[in-house]
Order: sequence, then structure tokens, then C-alpha cells
Amino acid sequence: MDLVIKEGVVVTASEAVEADVGIEGGKIVAVGKGLDAPVKLKAQGCYIFPGFIDVHVHLQMPVGDIVSADDFFTGTVAAACGGTTTVLDFAEAHGSQSLSQAVEERRRQADGQVVVDYSLHLTGNRADGQFLQEVAELAEQGYTSLKIYTTYPGLMVDDGQILKLLETCREAGVLPIVHAENHHMIEHMKERLLREGKTSPRYHPISRPCLAEAEAAQRVLALSALTRTPVYFVHLSCTETLEAVRLARSRGQEVYAEVTPHHLLLSDEEYLRPDPEAAMFVLSPPLRDKSHHSQLWGALARGEIQTVATDHCPWTRAQRERGLGNFTLIPNGAPGVETRIPLLFTFGVREGRLSLNRFVEVCSTMPAKLFGLYPRKGTIAPGADADLVVFDPEEEVTLSWRTLHHQVDHCPYEGWKVKGYPRLVLSRGEVIVEKGEFLGQKGRGLFLPRQKFPIRVA
Ligand code: URP
Ligand code: ZN
Ligand code: ZN
Repeated sequence: MDLVIKEGVVVTASEAVEADVGIEGGKIVAVGKGLDAPVKLKAQGCYIFPGFIDVHVHLQMPVGDIVSADDFFTGTVAAACGGTTTVLDFAEAHGSQSLSQAVEERRRQADGQVVVDYSLHLTGNRADGQFLQEVAELAEQGYTSLKIYTTYPGLMVDDGQILKLLETCREAGVLPIVHAENHHMIEHMKERLLREGKTSPRYHPISRPCLAEAEAAQRVLALSALTRTPVYFVHLSCTETLEAVRLARSRGQEVYAEVTPHHLLLSDEEYLRPDPEAAMFVLSPPLRDKSHHSQLWGALARGEIQTVATDHCPWTRAQRERGLGNFTLIPNGAPGVETRIPLLFTFGVREGRLSLNRFVEVCSTMPAKLFGLYPRKGTIAPGADADLVVFDPEEEVTLSWRTLHHQVDHCPYEGWKVKGYPRLVLSRGEVIVEKGEFLGQKGRGLFLPRQKFPIRVA
């Protein structure tokens, strides 16, 4: 053994036991009492969690003529400092690019930059024969999830294309993951609002109502029932979509859902802030009325929602303020990769909404299982990568964009107090963060090919 983490409380999705964790060659080799090694790290009074996994980030994402503000280096440093040791981003084909070329381009951007391990979802923005063939080929190389958008020109696909993509996913062992919002309803509302002179960011949530999200989810669920394909909804934000998921499950469909910290903790009241502050909360699906919060927390605790991911997609004030006279021009998204774990611990575990085990399950174990990384990631057991977070439950931090590592000059949780913060973060046995300071090397992160999705409904 090279290294041992001594005397913490080791927490997995099913257990919490006082123990040491022994590490050799970047892997966990033992979990138990009285372990010894030349290097010892103390964890008294701390939890030892499996490294957290964020399956939904947008680093260096091009939208029109701008690019989201964190690149693969800064975004993964922010992830690491918040206790996240694996991220999943996206590859999408632009213009005449093939899907494989898009994947290669994304790999070139990420490799040599990332500081934690990462993988890529494919994006299904076409459904011609060559494209579908590429999805199947890339699945063999470990790209085993595919994003389907029902809105955003350039990314969205129609029902006929969705059916083809779902069928290909089923045959190739790829998990379809869906951004569900009805494009035409959104466009209709945007046009109407702008015509009425309602141009400020406070109208953003009105342009993208729950009805639009639930309609798209129901439609995709009907398409996935027809093709007998499992489906995973990203950023489920409202009770209406939750109802659609429940109904599909009651019919025997295999459906998974993710929720973001912002949909659990923030509400549409943020849009009532004076300009330009309201513009900082323009993200999609929008923040909802706070009456949705308790339903989402309950669904997460009961297992109706399986994962918490951030949809980290940061834009600077300057990038956002270009849309102040027309909210539809504000780039959508918010930073979140660094704050997920402290927020979920503070407002989930501390406030009794989530057990400690469930917290680990939704932020690490289920993401690893659903996205083909388990048991290499997502647990603390011999044979797993030594991705570990020594977490001090008593550490109090006031969140601020000035001290966070993301590259934007605002934070949706500015001034919020959290209690519980990563003290040490290890990635494959290497201490990469100590007390908020990043210690690792640029480019040390590895690309992770992933297992195929096991299909249970076919
Ligand atoms: O507002 C958001 N969420 N922007 C990022 C793209 C997406 O929809 O996930
Ligand atoms: Zn989305
Ligand atoms: Zn997203």
C-alpha cells in the first residue's frame, strides 16, 4: 500500500462505517481498521466519500458566436475543488462534420487540459443512415449515451428522427438522454412576449412554461414506449414532468431522471431582481415556482429521480448582458459544478431531506451505474479507482464567485452559507485538492470509455 486515509467514516450508497482506506497504484486495495502505509492522511471527524460524478456539464460549449466561459481546464479545476472527480460533457457535430470528427475535435480540446477523468455523451442532432451507423460504431468505443434535444435550432430533432435515434440506441446499448421542452410552444411564447414589449429577463420563465417541458417529455415517452427504449431526462424541473415519468413507469417503461441543484434550491423569484441581475438566472428549463421544490426533493429521496447533475454552463456578465434589451438573446445556463456537493450536503443531508447514503447514491453511485462507469467509479471498494473526497461536515463556507474557481463573475448562490466542504480530493490516489487549493497538473485527467447500457425492457 502506498497511501492510507486514516480513521474517517467511509460512506457508500449502502453503508457508513468508521474505517481506513488503503490505496496502491491509484486503486483502492483495502477498506478496514488499522491499515498502514508510508503516507498517511488523517480523516478524523470527516466523511470519506467516493469521488462525485457530474454527468451534465458544458465546458467550452459553442453557442452562435460565443463559447461558454469555462474550458476543460478551468471547468475541471472547479469540479475538483467542489469534490467532483469525473465529469461527462458532450460532443456534437457542427455543419458538415461527421459525428466521429466531432468526437475527435472534442477529445483534442479536452485531452491535455482536463484535471479529472471525463467522458463524452454523443449528441443526436441528425438521424441519417451514416449518422446512425456512427452512433453504433462509437458505442463500441465506449461512447454509450446520446443526447436528444427537443428544442434549440441546430441541435433539436423531430419525432421521426427521435424514433430512429431511439431505435439505434436500443440496438447499440446506448442510453438516450433527453432535454425535453416543446420548441414550438417556446417560440410562440417568445414571439408573443416580444411583440407585447415584454423584453426583460423576467419573461424568460413565462416563455418556457412547465407545460412545454411536460409535453415534450410525454411525447418522448410515447416514442420510447413504441421503440421499447429506456430514456433518461436531464434537468427535470417540475411536478408536471415528474407526473409524466410516473405514468410511464406505471405502464412498465424504464425511465430515469436527473435534477439540478438550481431546480431544487432556486425559484422564479430570482427573475424579479432588477436588471442586470435577473439575467444571471436565464437558464433552461427556467427556475420554477418554489411550490415544485418539495416534490422534487421527495422524488429524489424516494428514488423517483436517480441523479443530481449541474448542467454547468457558465456565461460571463458581459456575455449575458448582450441580451438585456431582449431576453431571448441571453445565452442560457449557469455555473454549478463546484457548488453541487456542498449545497446538496447542506440543504439535503443537513436539513433531513436526504440520508447520507442517498446523497452518495444520487451524486456518485447512480451516475456511475447509469453511465457505464461502475464499479470503477461511484463506490469505495477494493478494485475501484481511488477517487475519494475527505469531507469536513463542520467546515463553514460562504459561497462567492470571487473564491470559486469557475471563470465567471457571478454565482447563483452568492453569499449563501454552506456547512460541509471537501477538505481533500483524491483522483486515482493523487491528492489534487487540499482545503480549496488545486494541486494537480493540467491534463492529468483521463478519458473514460464506458460500458454499454444494459437494456431491461427489450
Ligand atoms: O440553460 C441551459 N441549460 N443551457 C445549457 C444547455 C442545456 O439546455 O442543457
Ligand atoms: Zn438542456
Ligand atoms: Zn445541459
